[in-house]
Amino acid sequence: MRVLGIESSCDETAASVVEDGRKLLSNVVNSQIDIHAVYGGVVPEVAARSHIEVVNPVINQALAEAGCTWDDIDAIAVTYAPGLVGSLLVGTLAARTLATLKDKPLYPIHHVEAHVYANFLNETAPEFPMLALIVSGGHSQLVLFKDHGDYELLGQTQDDAVGEAFDKVAKIIGLPYPGGPSLAAAALNGDPHKYTLPKAKLKDPYNFSFSGLKTAVLRAVQREVGVDFTFPSHELPALLNDVQRADFAASFQRTAVETLVDKAQLAFRDYAPKSVVIAGGVAANQELRRQLSERLPLHIDYAPMNLCTDNAAMIATLGYYYAQKNQPVDPLELEVVPSLSMTKTAWAHNK
Ligand code: KG4
Ligand code: ZN
Repeated sequence: MRVLGIESSCDETAASVVEDGRKLLSNVVNSQIDIHAVYGGVVPEVAARSHIEVVNPVINQALAEAGCTWDDIDAIAVTYAPGLVGSLLVGTLAARTLATLKDKPLYPIHHVEAHVYANFLNETAPEFPMLALIVSGGHSQLVLFKDHGDYELLGQTQDDAVGEAFDKVAKIIGLPYPGGPSLAAAALNGDPHKYTLPKAKLKDPYNFSFSGLKTAVLRAVQREVGVDFTFPSHELPALLNDVQRADFAASFQRTAVETLVDKAQLAFRDYAPKSVVIAGGVAANQELRRQLSERLPLHIDYAPMNLCTDNAAMIATLGYYYAQKNQPVDPLELEVVPSLSMTKTAWAHNK
């Protein structure tokens, strides 16, 4: 079964063809990073307009690179939640139109759940029960998968997502957008023990909180350069030298990653899963991979970096499993849901 996946929930327009949920035939990603870099973050209206411009060429390229015509495609899977409303509308509208015109079954996919499925494109698929640490720009959560579509949310962030914290801290210390990768790169030259930063202590041991850590970095930077909290934060980076910047990046990254791994380790002890996977943009972080492999007593098969950040291969892969268990949706009825937690996905609606 060949599934065409379409993804447009934030600032990447992507399409991919995956065979039987295992074999990647094509993976086309058009990133808008250059367009948004001048603003220092994603501008929703600009993102939607860019999706409109490239969605059809990206889909055509994914079919061409897979060596497929429409006759070779058995189903279409598209991200319908969560994300920016204008962005989601472009991808779903393209998918709904194509499903109607080409007479293909259409499956709506939850973006965050799909991130986990990048791991099913590895040489060996993860075994259930599977513990998933989902860490992206919008989500930080620990989820225990008992089977496809059968999962339990163990914990999640109470405020900022970890990717969001990477992005905000990068901004505070004057590193370029997108913050996560540039902070990770700066951290390579820094001392991870230079600054002591706090780890949030929460009542529920599986929940996360990263907003306090972000504020702690801000206060530490202010102390380091000798200004108080009334000093305009956008003027702080100019007062830091490269050594201080690298030390702040490394100290923040160590603390944020340790927090994630502490909780993953706890969940591993409590639930004894057969596999552990990480998913979402922050799963591309090398320090997270290093610490997790060091502290968990099992082999972790990490997904390639380009399948950790937003892509449509993960959408097509989950689409395959979804098609095994669920009925397709009516293309005329499919609506986007900009804000939808993973506990209430379409899997649940169809059971
Ligand atoms: O999953 P994703 O591509 O988009 C969302 O669904 O949110 O994740 C984007 C997030 C951003 O916050 C970005 O800064 C972060 O992932 N990120 C990283 C790295 N690469 C991307 N964070 C830390 N280290 C990285 N290498
Ligand atoms: Zn994502």
